[in-house]
Amino acid sequence: MAKGMKQLKETVKFLKKQYKHTPEIAVVLGSGLGNFINEIEIEQEIDYHDIPNFPVSTVPGHKGKLLFGKLSGKRIVAMAGRFHFYEGYCAAEVVFPIRVMKLLGTGVLLLSNAAGGVNPDFKIGDLMIIKDHISLNTVNPLIGKNVDDLGPRFPDMSEPYKKYLIAKAKEVAARLNVEVKEGVYYAVTGPTFETKAEYKMIHILGGDVVGMSTVQESIVANHMGMHVFAMSVITDMGLQDAVISHEEVLEAAKAAEPKFAAIFKGLIEAI
Ligand code: HPA
Repeated sequence: MAKGMKQLKETVKFLKKQYKHTPEIAVVLGSGLGNFINEIEIEQEIDYHDIPNFPVSTVPGHKGKLLFGKLSGKRIVAMAGRFHFYEGYCAAEVVFPIRVMKLLGTGVLLLSNAAGGVNPDFKIGDLMIIKDHISLNTVNPLIGKNVDDLGPRFPDMSEPYKKYLIAKAKEVAARLNVEVKEGVYYAVTGPTFETKAEYKMIHILGGDVVGMSTVQESIVANHMGMHVFAMSVITDMGLQDAVISHEEVLEAAKAAEPKFAAIFKGLIEAI
């Protein structure tokens, strides 16, 4: 058996024992966006510590729980807290829970994150639907022997964020009268925020926002044939802000959380 499958199967078997239903949709909640769990009719919650083979989150503001339950009539599994490359996990560890959620039966993955605004038309508190990404400054989680049971050696990435999900999210946003931007997410490893020269470079290269998560998860989800949707909350404006702090990022994400939650909830209903 290919390396990784043994642990995946063990974890999936454990979780299936804890929760008998099959979730349809997987959700990952980014920094400061954890209040979304209040929208879920929670049927089962399990600390990452208690899940075999799961890494454990070390960042303040990340709760570290896998939640199973119902939202808008759909069964979902949600990660309250994710794993980041900058914490010291290898890429395979960062994406392990995504693979687990796919093997639990989900076909759709909704990702969220706090991100730095690079596009000068954006402002703090804006929501941006990710229509594409640039991942040249991060480690591709598929490097290494391909796990053929999960997906192909050379996965297509022509539509990493499904157009039909983007269209549905825009419909929901219009109905709720919430403004959403659309753009390209430029992935970095962190943990440093960018220098002014780096923000400028990212803008020149076509990034509208920059962040330290999401892309590795999106890559493995695409590898496994999941349909991915992702949305950023703009928490700082790199080229304009004098200084950026994690506290400021969390605060801005928290302030925008109700808008974000309304859209995710509406999208789950519409899927
Ligand atoms: N850069 C990288 N990651 C981030 C930022 C940023 O400015 N804001 C929130 N996450």
